[in-house]
Amino acid sequence: LEWKGKMQDIYSPIETRDGEVFSPLLIGRCPVVDESVGTLALEAAVRAYDNGMGLWPTMAVADRIRHVETFVDRLAGVRDEVVHLMTLEICKPRSESEVEFDRTLDYIHDTIRALKDLDRDSSRIAIEGGIYAQIRRAPLGPVLCMGPYNFPLNETLATLIPALLMGNTAIVKTPRMGKLLLAPVMELLCECFPRGVVNVLFGDRRVVRPILESGKVSVLAFIGSSSAADALRRLHPHPHRLRCVLGLDAKNPAFVLESADMDVTAREILSGSLGFSGQRCTALKIIFVHRSRAEELLARLCEGIAGLNVGMPFDPGVNITPMPGLGKIAYLRALVDDAVAKGARVVNAGGGFSVRTLFQPALLYGVTPSMRVYQEEQFGPVVPVVPFDDERTPLAYQVQSNYGQQMSIFGSDPEQVARFIDPMVNQVCRVNINSKCQRGPDSFPFTGRKDSAEGTLSVGDGLRCFSIRSVVAAKG
Ligand code: G3H
Repeated sequence: LEWKGKMQDIYSPIETRDGEVFSPLLIGRCPVVDESVGTLALEAAVRAYDNGMGLWPTMAVADRIRHVETFVDRLAGVRDEVVHLMTLEICKPRSESEVEFDRTLDYIHDTIRALKDLDRDSSRIAIEGGIYAQIRRAPLGPVLCMGPYNFPLNETLATLIPALLMGNTAIVKTPRMGKLLLAPVMELLCECFPRGVVNVLFGDRRVVRPILESGKVSVLAFIGSSSAADALRRLHPHPHRLRCVLGLDAKNPAFVLESADMDVTAREILSGSLGFSGQRCTALKIIFVHRSRAEELLARLCEGIAGLNVGMPFDPGVNITPMPGLGKIAYLRALVDDAVAKGARVVNAGGGFSVRTLFQPALLYGVTPSMRVYQEEQFGPVVPVVPFDDERTPLAYQVQSNYGQQMSIFGSDPEQVARFIDPMVNQVCRVNINSKCQRGPDSFPFTGRKDSAEGTLSVGDGLRCFSIRSVVAAKG
């Protein structure tokens, strides 16, 4: 990137070791911007939107689509570079980095197709009560998009692209990790759209303060923690005028019933809890198991964890990779220590590693409500297991939870499983039966209740989030 201002060093969670000396691996440099650059980005987005009268919001849908198609074609050309940087910068296993990249291209292509359908519907004239009406989808204004570090490409573009397609202008703030991998993508965005339509900010969260305080952004699209979302929303002088599209904290539980098929259950819990080292918002973060099946489940999970490959993200077949920083390792260790001090046991044997940022997955049994890991979202490879005797125990957990994204039920007795479905559909936004929690397919609505989400992100819903229905009516 051409940038004449201050730069910051970017390190990978991978460490190098020389005897007893560990050093973080320097992988590149990125611009550092302050609040004044945030203000410049805002002004550019506001100018390009021009109260809905700018070139971009008034452009024909087909022409906006052409810009996005040019971008996505060029994006495909930087696949190797982005995948390599993603693997290095956030330590996502290389094969999973490839999946994230390819899924993002599919998401954009599918969103374009969904917009063509939506646009066809919008151009129809309806006649009702003697009124001829065209119900259009109109843009909302400048949008602030902030993606997370764990899906930096996918979840940044999953909000940005629908926002642009609907005629909004945007400011993108890159996540705290993932700046390097996003640099080539952001460069393409700036080249493929008219001036001022996409404005990119590298920097920490402080740079968005003037943007929100100005009251001039119409939508905050943020994927990250619930507490950060609250703080961001509060900066806007008229929060009721700020539409929020949010993907936030979750503590998705699994309920393992007496009738569970243990092969399926253990397989799904392993990948559901430990995929990308537990750093998925959709991860299974607490497991309730009927006491009669607990020993069997623990034995399967122990065996599964022992078979996981702990190593570097470029290693073929690796499962558990370095975590983002020593602070995260200390946090996970504190969660485990707290649980053990209060009576839980670590069921699996741990191992020492040559890199301080690696964390041996910990399977905890006998977890109770007094332990931090019962409530806190660990976002790492810690699997807390709670035995239950009475079906009301897991149900009560979800009812009392502050979160309501998804859950999983494992059981092969249809009547037993059915007893959980209806009450849980009213608590979370996706009930998975005999399978882990997950976002895909991307045409499914992806949202949550309580502190877990606001708005719905999916291929079609994304377009609706960043637009409003506007009626042109004429009396016949
Ligand atoms: O971190 C949250 C992601 O949206 C999870 O996506 O369920 O496809 O892994 P996923």
